Amino acid sequence: MNSISEAVLITGASHRLGLAIALKSIELGFHAIIHHRTERDELREVLENNSELRSQITTIPYELTQSPEALVDKAYSLPFNLTGLVNSASIFTPGNLTDYNHFERVLNINALVPSRLAAQFYNKGGNGWVINITDAICNKPSVHYQNYRISKVLLELLTKQQAMLFAPKIRVNAIAPGAMIPGEAEDSEYFKALESQVPMKKTGDIKSFLDTYSYLIGTPYINGQILRVDGGWSVAP
Ligand SMILES: NC(=O)c1ccc[n+]([C@@H]2O[C@H](COP(=O)([O-])OP(=O)(O)OC[C@H]3O[C@@H](n4cnc5c(N)ncnc54)[C@H](OP(=O)(O)O)[C@@H]3O)[C@@H](O)[C@H]2O)c1
Repeated sequence: MNSISEAVLITGASHRLGLAIALKSIELGFHAIIHHRTERDELREVLENNSELRSQITTIPYELTQSPEALVDKAYSLPFNLTGLVNSASIFTPGNLTDYNHFERVLNINALVPSRLAAQFYNKGGNGWVINITDAICNKPSVHYQNYRISKVLLELLTKQQAMLFAPKIRVNAIAPGAMIPGEAEDSEYFKALESQVPMKKTGDIKSFLDTYSYLIGTPYINGQILRVDGGWSVAP
């Protein structure tokens, strides 16, 4: 008897952490529905060089400033049982509260869109889990990437509120990573220098990030939590 595969929709998963989450999902036995805007080389290489993985991936190109709900509808139209949603797509650009056009764009993609995707998953009768990707140090007030930080704080609040609203059908949790991969506009020297600020004296521990993802999926009594995976960076003075 053929059973329908369980699938996870991961946003912004054409490269970097999003793609790593997609590949981990496959390792955990899910079909990966990879949402992307741009098809990046990292994804192209995976699809071109590994036929086994290719059969476990479906890609959906989509611009998230359009109706986010339509992305969930597209995922639902596939012949899988959608059980997970990972909100990883995000805008990470500098900007502070002197620039409200930037603030609106960042708030939309980093907080409103993820919560609308989760709501559509719930409204369609979904059963499973949502994991939002926030940021370990978003709660530290700073003018550096201020709008980005505020958007991630809001996403953490939405995580807790939706966890209450959607239970017991859907669990909503978040992972708040510390410095994992330098931003595209950041230089690697700056990133390396961050190590001295992290109590565990290390950046880039993607394995811990992915282990946390796997732990959250496999632990059904955890709901409404934000797990910081940052080597203690967020508690350092
Ligand atoms: N990297 C780190 O060390 C780190 C640290 C803390 C938190 N995080 C969080 O972890 C997550 C993944 O980080 P990352 O650095 O791997 O991501 P990233 O390189 O910033 O990629 C984010 C993805 O989001 C997509 N995206 C942005 N706006 C979009 C839109 N309007 N429509 C569709 N897609 C859109 C981008 O698409 P395009 O490819 O088309 O630009 C991009 O591929 C993010 O939520 C980030 O905030 C990362």
